[in-house]
Amino acid sequence: MSETYAFARLTLPFVSRAKQMARTIARFSLARRLYARVTRKVWPIPPVAVSLEPTNHCNLKCSYCPKSLGIDRKKGFVSLEDFERFVERIGHAKLKRADLVGFGEIFVHKEWASILRVVRKRLPKCQIVITTNALLLTRQAFDIMNECGVYQLTVSLNGANRQTYKEINRVDKFDEVYAKLSDLVRYYKTLPNRNLDLVVQLIDTINSPGEIERFRREHADWFDHKILFYVHPYSNWGGYFFDDEAEERYPCGHLYVPGISWTGDVYACCVAYPDGNKDLLLGNLNDKTLEEIYRSDRFRQLHAWNKRGELHKHVDLCRNCNSWKRIPNVYFRNPMSIGPKWL
Ligand SMILES: C[S@@+](CC[C@H](N)C(=O)[O-])C[C@H]1O[C@@H](n2cnc3c(N)ncnc32)[C@H](O)[C@@H]1O
Ligand code: SF4
Ligand code: SF4
Repeated sequence: MSETYAFARLTLPFVSRAKQMARTIARFSLARRLYARVTRKVWPIPPVAVSLEPTNHCNLKCSYCPKSLGIDRKKGFVSLEDFERFVERIGHAKLKRADLVGFGEIFVHKEWASILRVVRKRLPKCQIVITTNALLLTRQAFDIMNECGVYQLTVSLNGANRQTYKEINRVDKFDEVYAKLSDLVRYYKTLPNRNLDLVVQLIDTINSPGEIERFRREHADWFDHKILFYVHPYSNWGGYFFDDEAEERYPCGHLYVPGISWTGDVYACCVAYPDGNKDLLLGNLNDKTLEEIYRSDRFRQLHAWNKRGELHKHVDLCRNCNSWKRIPNVYFRNPMSIGPKWL
C-alpha cells in the first residue's frame, strides 16, 4: 500500500464526515445565514416532506376542492414503474414525511397497496400519511396500511352531519361513509397492534362551530390516543374560493413541502394545483432528482422572496392565498434595515 493511498484511506472518511457535519450545521445555523448574506445566494434546502399524487381521478366532486373547479389537466394514474423511479429520485433528499395525497382519491388507484409498499421499502425512515374520502375504504385495506407502517390515515368526513355533508361534498353519502367509519373505529379498538393514527377530520367554517362541537360530544367514545379528532382549517387554496389579501405576511412554510403530480411534475408548494399555476413549477422527476431540482435558480428565487415575506408580490397563486397562515411563523423579524426581513 503506497503512503499516499494509506493517508487517503485514513483521512477520507474523516473528511467526508466533517463535510457532512458542516452541511448539517449549515442547514440550520448562522453559518447558512452568513453564507447567504455574503454570497447573496440562498443555501439550497432540500425539503423534509413531500406530497405524492397517485392519481388525479376521484369519485367525488367536493364543492371546496380545487379538483372540482374544472381546471384543464391531463387525467391519469401513476404507473408502478414511474412511481418507483420518482421515489428513488426523491430518496436522495432527507425526507421525514411522505403524504400519499394529491388532487384525487388514492383508493381509486388499483395499485395503491403496491404504491404504498414502494414508499415503505425505499423510504424506510419516512412517516407515511394517507388521506381519503373513505368511500372505498375497507377493513382489509385498513389492515394493509396498519401492517405496512402507515403513520397516519386521515378520513375526510368533512361534513359533521348528513345535510352539511350533502351540501359540501355534493353527494348524499354521509350515512354510507359514517357507517364505514363507525365500523372501522370499532374494529380498530379490537386490534392488538394499533400502529397508525386514525384521524377523523371535519373542516371548520363550512360547518358551524355548533355542528362541530355536537359531533365531538356525540363521538367522545370513539377517540383515544390512536383515534383522533381533527378540525381542519378551511383554506381558500391559493385564492380559488374566497379573497384574502393580507398586507403583512411572514414566510410561508408550505414552500418547503412540494407537491408532486402523478406525472412527476414538482411544484414548490403542495397547495399549487398542477397546471393551474406554473410559477411554482420547479421541474420534473423524469429529468432530475429532487435535490437537483431544489438547487435550481427558480427555487432560490422563490426562497429569497419568501424570506422577505414577499411571495405574494411575485407569484400569482400566492397573492390571494391564505394557506400560509396554517403554518405558524418560525422566523423572527430582522432588526436591521438591510438583508431579508425574516431570519
Ligand atoms: C385534496 S384532498 C385529496 C385526498 C382525498 N380525496 C380526500 O378527500 O381526503 C386532500 C385533503 O384536502 C382537504 N381539502 C380539500 N379542499 C380543502 C379546502 N378548501 N380547505 C381545507 N381542506 C381542503 C380534503 O378534505 C382532504 O382532507
Ligand atoms: S376533497 Fe378529495 S374527495 Fe373531494 S373532490 Fe377533492 S380530491 Fe376528491
Ligand atoms: S402562499 Fe399559498 S400558494 Fe404560495 S407558497 Fe404559500 S401556501 Fe403555497
